[in-house]
Amino acid sequence: MCGIVGYVGPRVATPLLVEGLKRLEYRGYDSAGVAIMNGAGVETVKEAGKISRLEAMLAANPVHGTTGIAHTRWATHGPPNQVNAHPHVSDDGTIAVVHNGIIENATVLKKMLEGRGYTFRSDTDTEVLAHLIEECFDGNLEDAVIEALRQVEGTYGIAVVSSVDAHKIVAARKGSPLLVGLGDDEYFVASDVSAILAHTRKVVYLDDGEMAVVDRNGYRIVDLNAMEVQKKVSRIDWDLGQIERGGFAHFMLKEIFEQPQTLENTMRGRLLDDDGTAKLGGLNLTDDELLAFDNIVITACGTSWHSALIGEHMIEELTRVPVEVEYASEFRYRNPIVNERTLCIVISQSGETADTLAAMREAKRRGARTLGIVNVVGSTIAREADGGIYIHAGPEIGVASTKAFTSQVIALLLFTLKLGRLRDLSILTGREIIEAMHRLPGQIQQILDRSAEIEALAEEFKRASNFLYLGRGYNFPVALEGALKLKEISYIHAEGYPAAEMKHGPIALIDEMMPVVFIAPHDSVFDKLASNIQEVKARKGRVIAITSRDEEALAGKVDYEFRIPETIDLLMPVLASVPLQLLAYYIAVKRGSNVDQPRNLAKSVTVE
Ligand code: M6R
Repeated sequence: MCGIVGYVGPRVATPLLVEGLKRLEYRGYDSAGVAIMNGAGVETVKEAGKISRLEAMLAANPVHGTTGIAHTRWATHGPPNQVNAHPHVSDDGTIAVVHNGIIENATVLKKMLEGRGYTFRSDTDTEVLAHLIEECFDGNLEDAVIEALRQVEGTYGIAVVSSVDAHKIVAARKGSPLLVGLGDDEYFVASDVSAILAHTRKVVYLDDGEMAVVDRNGYRIVDLNAMEVQKKVSRIDWDLGQIERGGFAHFMLKEIFEQPQTLENTMRGRLLDDDGTAKLGGLNLTDDELLAFDNIVITACGTSWHSALIGEHMIEELTRVPVEVEYASEFRYRNPIVNERTLCIVISQSGETADTLAAMREAKRRGARTLGIVNVVGSTIAREADGGIYIHAGPEIGVASTKAFTSQVIALLLFTLKLGRLRDLSILTGREIIEAMHRLPGQIQQILDRSAEIEALAEEFKRASNFLYLGRGYNFPVALEGALKLKEISYIHAEGYPAAEMKHGPIALIDEMMPVVFIAPHDSVFDKLASNIQEVKARKGRVIAITSRDEEALAGKVDYEFRIPETIDLLMPVLASVPLQLLAYYIAVKRGSNVDQPRNLAKSVTVE
């Protein structure tokens, strides 16, 4: 989604801003621009399309200056063109604004400003901010921004510069992430730490309702009453290598191949082998408190919602606590039955998804205790949840989530072990699960070592127009996730279903053109699934089966088989996901898709 970078310091700003924008490319965008204080005023350069086009424009006509702001836009109001690209500039040309989020009362404000003689050039809601800040400006930029924001409804992360109150960036946040990066005699503003990681690891995260005033001499954080707020400086432990491709053709492939390591990282120091349980320091709950909840609600979006479905299955099976899984976007506007006896688990790779954050806040408002299962350290959900489990998967840059998904499943299993052992789960079962968890990274490596087989399969199916993914039990969410991966990056229409539901409708789609991927490892529902495979074969569907052993029941019934190592049912979703990630990846590459930045998608969806 949209990205913001700003710089104040002794260095020439443009290359630093463009470099920062490139680090944010993965978030998804459709235009980009910069505004630099060039000594004479604010100079703005912006362009539709890739950052490379902006870079070429800047190379042809360099802009000099040591203070500037930059933006990648993901269109919400108005098409992705040069006029709608940010920064937006005030009528008098002295103020430039970049903005993430949505100004909900933009229409009303626009009418008011037009009435006062302001001219609008773009279709965006952001332009309202530029004119409004000009209207409120009386020589001091932060006062003008505060005054303008008091009139604004909606969400924003903004960075603003003015040629009248120069060499200063004012940045403010409500609902859209923003941080200040602290360098040596230089300061950055960014919506995502990746943008500035090459220059500093010291950051201050803004909370909603806070504003940063940054100049060459330092920074101040104030609230919208201009009262100073004391903030903690956080240290980022990601390194630059983790946000680079490191020899892989795409970030997605790198991230798929990192999974043996990322799963180790999720488990590190948390498994208590002898006791058959897990140690989770960040829950901020005593054992008695954990035992006191009547029910658990898990809320999330997209891939994280799929991991939630697996978590539901695990927790109910091993702890017997009732669990409900809800799309965060639905949960936030329902009247859910959630109270102080509910534990609400919120799952989000980015920790910034707007719907998930809103759902968490709604659960809190109703008295529930909240736990975040989050990847990005210091993200809003991580900071606002009452406790949580970091998945420690490292930066995930590919828009299609892969390593975060498998780590989320493992984090949910750690939680299940902890709660299960406090309840009825036997020490022996706990130990068996842990033994299987220890084997997992090596088993994933075995699958990755055979990626060429999946690549060959992708060649065979790259021209398909539709795909069905079917699974049962723990592997039904894997079917959903396999289908989501394929459609996101290859643009092939794909659906995931519980295998037995097929005969209630989707079976009508099956003919010799329809590839059907069955997630069919040897688990407790294998025999049932084998019958579903027969039903597809009887209608000439082309069956790709993910299996785990030689099954007589499948002899002659499947067109392609990929065998994964054997494990316990609980962990099958992790192993079975890997070949499906690879299948989606290789098909997308063979179809010429932009795998890491698929069309229309953003890595982190920070608007509703
Ligand atoms: O950062 P989050 O986990 O909250 O993101 C949720 C979804 O937007 C995300 O999983 C999305 O579905 C991915 N593109 C899936 O690959």
